[in-house]
This record gives sequence, structure tokens and C-alpha cells, in this order.
Amino acid sequence: MIKQITVIGVGLMGTQIAIAAVNHGYKVICYDVNFESLKRAKSYCNSWYQKQCLYGPLPIEEFLQRKQNLSFSDNLESSIKDSDLIIEAVSDTLSAKKDVLRKIDNHIPTHCIIASNSSYIVSSLFCNVVKDPSKVINMHFFNPVLKMDVVEVVKGPHVSDETFNTILHFVRSINKTPIIVEQEIYGSIVNRIFRAITREACYLTDIGIASPQEIDKAVKGALGHPMGPFETLDLTGIDLEYQVYMENFKSTGNVEDLPASCISFLYEKGWYGHKSGKGFYDYNQKE
Ligand SMILES: NC(=O)c1ccc[n+]([C@@H]2O[C@H](COP(=O)([O-])OP(=O)(O)OC[C@H]3O[C@@H](n4cnc5c(N)ncnc54)[C@H](O)[C@@H]3O)[C@@H](O)[C@H]2O)c1
Repeated sequence: MIKQITVIGVGLMGTQIAIAAVNHGYKVICYDVNFESLKRAKSYCNSWYQKQCLYGPLPIEEFLQRKQNLSFSDNLESSIKDSDLIIEAVSDTLSAKKDVLRKIDNHIPTHCIIASNSSYIVSSLFCNVVKDPSKVINMHFFNPVLKMDVVEVVKGPHVSDETFNTILHFVRSINKTPIIVEQEIYGSIVNRIFRAITREACYLTDIGIASPQEIDKAVKGALGHPMGPFETLDLTGIDLEYQVYMENFKSTGNVEDLPASCISFLYEKGWYGHKSGKGFYDYNQKE
């Protein structure tokens, strides 16, 4: 039974996942290798809870209880030693995933499940670095975690029924709907579909057919999507998108897997979207 959770990597996703779990009664420890990320995550959580308490529905007693159940640490071993579930949300490279799993394997309880939030990397590629791969699984949240209802749960060939069912139960316990992915595939369901759309959208922009703004308008207005592909890329992070393409290119060597020119351009400028104030859109000028 899951009671205590450690989130490893509290950037954009890890921080929100931690709040989602605390909100449903779990004790959560946030760990990050980067002190600045830890500081940012703490401040994000504090202000999120304060807003819920001041302007939202959260009674003060509940606010204090939730704050007590959420802690931050820069000590890996003590963060994971009593965990029933580790949620890994570090950068999306195979080497980072393997590195984390290697480091934690000797310090977690034997029953502990390790769930990866990777958008693209299937867990059979890194589960073998731990003693019990049957406890390693992909559990993929969507951004913004506190608003999105669904979570993909992947039945990798190494995943035991017990692990799979425990994770399904966990996802439901935090009031989300699991999407069961019967077999591993790069990008699972949602990101494969999103990628097909963004690849075409970037191609149309790169060859000068229409600006990102016009394409977003078209996709929202004619296809009924709540956000355009470029707005979504700004939200998820241009750096992540670039990294994912490069990681895939490294394994295939196929030039068609390189990031689109418009993505590379923004990446090289350091314009990562919302997180840096500018991406396809300029958020410093928006209200
Ligand atoms: N950005 C999205 O919209 C989104 C959506 C769904 C899933 N994901 C997945 O979630 C994961 C994290 O993405 P993100 O956008 O939150 O990234 P991010 O860059 O915002 O955060 C990653 C965090 O991991 C930390 N980190 C890196 N190596 C570490 C290590 N060895 N130990 C501990 N911490 C480490 C970094 O310091 C950083 O704080 C990725 O696997 C990504 O594919 C992202």
C-alpha cells in the first residue's frame, strides 16, 4: 500500500505531481540534484497552497496538514529510504534515467515501485539497472498536472501485474483516469499524436506557409483543440522538445528525426516558452 512517495526531479512536472499526490493524502518528499530547482519548487508549492487557502476552497487546518505532508530535501538516501513509490521526473534522457535508478536501487525498500514520468522513453530501456525490473513502470502525467484528468500507464513486458495494478489504483486515488497502454511504444499514445501534429505545424512554419500564431488559430478554430500546437510547445518547454528530438536522433541517426528549424532556433536563443518568458509567443508582453 502506498503511503509515502518521493518525487525525484522537481522541475515543471515533478513539482505539480508532488502537489497532486499531497492533495490526496499522501506524504511526499521532493528531491532534486539542483539546489535552485529545489528552491523554485518549494516556492511554487508555498504560493500555490497560499492561493488555495486565501482565495480558494482550502480551510486553514487542511492547508497546514498538507504543508506538513510535503517536504523538500537535497539528501537522496534519506528521501527514499521509507518510500513506497518513487516518481522519477528528471530530464528526458536515457542516461539521466539510468543514473537515477542506479543511485537509488540500494537505498529503497524492497517493495518500492519506481514510476517514470518520461514522455518518450520506455522503461524497459532502463529497468535493467535495478535488481527488480518488475517494479519499474511508465506512469505519464500531462501538463498542467493539476488540471489534466488522464495519466498513461504502460504495461511494459517486465512490469509485474502487482506493480501495474498498484499504479492503476494510485492514479485513481489521486482522482485521475488511467489510460492503459497495452504495450510499450516510443511516446505512448498522446505524445505520438501530438508529435504528428507539431511536426506538420513546424514544417508549415519553416517553409513560410503560415506563422505559428495563424496555425494555432486554425487548429483551435477548425479542429476544436483548446490550444494550438505552438501554444502547447511553449507550455511543455522548447528545451524538452529539442532534447527529445536530439535523443531520438542519437538512436536512429535519421536526419528526419532532427528538430525542426523553428525549434532549434528558439532553443539556441534560450527561448524555451513559458518558463523563460518567451518562446513562439512573448509572455512578457502578454497580460
Ligand atoms: N514538460 C512537460 O510538459 C512534460 C509533460 C509530461 C512528461 N514530461 C516528462 O517529465 C520529465 C521531466 O520533465 P520536466 O519538463 O519537468 O523537466 P524540467 O527540466 O523542468 O525538470 C527536470 C528536473 O530534474 C532535475 N534533475 C536532473 N537530473 C537529476 C538527477 N540525476 N537527480 C535529481 N534531479 C535531477 C533537474 O534539476 C530539474 O529540476 C521528463 O521525463 C519529461 O519527458 C514532461
